[in-house]
Amino acid sequence: MELLSGKKIVLGVTGGIAAYKAVEVASRLRKAGAEVHVIMTREATEFVTELTFREISGQPVTTDMWSKVTHFRVEHIALANLADLVLIAPATANLIAKAAVGIADDMLTTTLLATKAPVFIAPAMNTNMYDNPVTQRNIAELQQRGFHIIDPASGHLACGINGKGRLPEPCDIVREVEAFFQQEQTLTGRRILVTAGGTIEPLDPVRYIGNRSTGRMGYAVAAEAARRGAEVVLVSGPSSLPDPTGVETIRIDTARQMQAEVMERYPAVDAVIMSAAVADYRPKTVAADKIKKSDDELVLHLERNPDILFGLGQQKQQQVLIGFAAETCNVEEYARRKLAKKNLDYIVANDVSQTDAWIRRRYEPYQALCKRRHDDLNIH
Ligand code: CTP
Repeated sequence: MELLSGKKIVLGVTGGIAAYKAVEVASRLRKAGAEVHVIMTREATEFVTELTFREISGQPVTTDMWSKVTHFRVEHIALANLADLVLIAPATANLIAKAAVGIADDMLTTTLLATKAPVFIAPAMNTNMYDNPVTQRNIAELQQRGFHIIDPASGHLACGINGKGRLPEPCDIVREVEAFFQQEQTLTGRRILVTAGGTIEPLDPVRYIGNRSTGRMGYAVAAEAARRGAEVVLVSGPSSLPDPTGVETIRIDTARQMQAEVMERYPAVDAVIMSAAVADYRPKTVAADKIKKSDDELVLHLERNPDILFGLGQQKQQQVLIGFAAETCNVEEYARRKLAKKNLDYIVANDVSQTDAWIRRRYEPYQALCKRRHDDLNIH
């Protein structure tokens, strides 16, 4: 697999003579498997055309924050959010100064201020500008904020003097980016099974019993495990989320379908992360035709679904088992009980009454009930 496969890299190009070398940087990043989105400053377009980068990257190139108003709202945050890494090569003294103080007056500096992705900066400028204490202070400031600085090379500069300030060779810049992602490959060779979303249990051909799980937690876990190099299978209940990049995603509806998919893969995996909200009960019978309304009341008979994670705990060999406990009261105590009962290695205890206003509103009466029950039992 290519080293940067699936990675989204925003390449910022500023207006220095070395901008032409950024074309090769874009090309090499793309060849290494990355999806490259180029943002050029206005000055950069004086050195290299937008068209060159568009052809090399195979993506639209952003040059201006204001000209495409329809694009703007999507773009300025979209690129900041989408990036797995932002690389600015070449970075002028001016760009570095703006980044150091947080000026956001064009698309590149705005993206830089908005992104949470790691940022790599490759300064390239005249030696005196580079050595100037103001530039050095700005670089130190960025470094302190966690930016990665790719040291400029020494040699003959376009301005006619010899000294430090040359943009390193594109292959060296790309190697630094690759090394960064490789460092993170802590799960290479591991096979991980993740479950996500809620299962749904049919009542008739058009209705089901379900829960409000979005699947976001499991999808994020699966994507992160894949990003760190693991081979990941995601078994998901219905969710509107797209399949995470680099993850084999299997979509199911019911708890029993989830159980079948999980059990089939269980012997071969190193870890299972069960973040799915599995329905504990299913309708005892599924009506062949749509249930018609008749009486004022409709009584549904439910029967127990298998506890998938409990079953995994019983058959545990080499696997690390990680469960989730979403609780609205006595969070730690209930989570600890599940950890022991299901023979887990770890459990993630989520106090959903604290973090989700929707659940809090609806569960407050239940919380009061739980408390009463425990007061009766003298458990505190
Ligand atoms: N789980 C499972 N199969 C089920 C129910 C839950 O595999 N039928 C898993 C969940 O994916 C989660 C863990 O068990 O990782 C705990 O789920 P939770 O719903 O918090 O607990 P339950 O065991 O269902 O207990 P209760 O609903 O009574 O709190």
